[in-house]
Amino acid sequence: MPIIAPSLLSANFLELQKDCDMLNNSVADWYHLDVMDGRFVPNISFGLPIIEQIRKATSKICDVHVMILEPEKYAEAFKKAGADIYTVHIEACPHLHRNLQQAKQLGMKAGVALNPHTPIQTLTDVIQDIDVVCLMSVNPGFGGQKFMPEVLEKIKELKKIRDQKNIDFDIEIDGGINFDNNKLAIEAGANILVSGTTIFKNNNGDIKKNIDLLKSS
Ligand code: DX5
Ligand code: ZN
Repeated sequence: MPIIAPSLLSANFLELQKDCDMLNNSVADWYHLDVMDGRFVPNISFGLPIIEQIRKATSKICDVHVMILEPEKYAEAFKKAGADIYTVHIEACPHLHRNLQQAKQLGMKAGVALNPHTPIQTLTDVIQDIDVVCLMSVNPGFGGQKFMPEVLEKIKELKKIRDQKNIDFDIEIDGGINFDNNKLAIEAGANILVSGTTIFKNNNGDIKKNIDLLKSS
């Protein structure tokens, strides 16, 4: 069964504790926390103080997806705030190998996210050092966007490389996941589904039910 990682970008920030309680009582596996700086992406979301609070509200894995420039400057602070996985964008990291080592040395898993237009081949030389590859199926910056089906081929390509090299990393898909394309993503080879809108807004916000439906894909 896939790992379900609800994106709290779509949570109700005035009732965050309530949403965390619902997630804790669901079969969701990870918390996906989207940090945006208004520079790498054209939007600003939340940062360290919110993650610190979320950390206190759950024992589930906190998967921090930083859509920020110079993510190396904040790796230690995010670790202290409670990050278990630190996922940086390859497009923001001219020294990606160094970023991956830094995350691991700090005791986090090292993730790399790829924008929809970034080819899988850009990862070839560091693929052995990555714990989680996050393939964006929307342009990062906003929740509620339409899934880009082109990414399914990228998932297949990435899975093929993993099989050929006989190495181990997770394949996460992020953006526009719903009750139709979840199956396609899994079939293609993804094992982690990130979802914001579908989990928090569908079926009148029945978080538990929506997570169950995604999980059973
Ligand atoms: C987009 C974020 C995603 C997004 C997922 O920049 O990385 O995690 O919020 O939300 P939905 O499922 O609404 O596309
Ligand atoms: Zn994300």
